[in-house]
Amino acid sequence: MNDDSIKNVLKRMPYGFYAVTSSFEEDSNAMVLNWATQISFDPRLISIAVQKTAYSNELIKQGQAFVLNLFLQENSDSIKNITKSRQKNPQKMENVDFEKSPSLNLPVIKGAAAFLECKLSGVYDTGGDHELFIGEVVGAGELKSGESQDTLNLPDLGWSYAG
Ligand SMILES: Cc1cc2nc3c(=O)[nH]c(=O)nc-3n(C[C@H](O)[C@H](O)[C@H](O)COP(=O)(O)O)c2cc1C
Repeated sequence: MNDDSIKNVLKRMPYGFYAVTSSFEEDSNAMVLNWATQISFDPRLISIAVQKTAYSNELIKQGQAFVLNLFLQENSDSIKNITKSRQKNPQKMENVDFEKSPSLNLPVIKGAAAFLECKLSGVYDTGGDHELFIGEVVGAGELKSGESQDTLNLPDLGWSYAG
């Protein structure tokens, strides 16, 4: 398989679409992310792959926790203020409305349909450009009713982050 085929097939994998929020002391951040999945039933663990250079990477390590925010397809506007990096947009969080999650007191984006509160239980250097963060899910909230098929996924936005 040549390189383009590898890229094509990686792009054909189905991906969700999320916002990951984190905070430490007075600082909060939010980033969009599609490399996320559940990896254990007992305990309930999820993993997210976070760019080594992302501002959120360091903030999640400092706060030892993160929240995975899910959206309904009809609320895709809720993520428009957080697609840029904190480095490119240092005032990013001034334009983001959020509330605090009940268990871990982390930001939950206003407009999210549901969220998972996760304590950081491991960080794995993949040897690549992203690190794998393992989160133990210790809390969750359902803010808008819906099923899996109503949740915003990467193809709904016409964007790609794979290859
Ligand atoms: C559609 C889309 C999907 C993305 N998925 C991921 C991802 O899975 N992991 C990741 O680390 N970055 C992902 N990114 C890039 C981050 O959102 C981007 O690096 C962001 O600027 C990081 O924000 P921060 O530096 O403020 O933490 C994605 C970007 C887009 C537009």
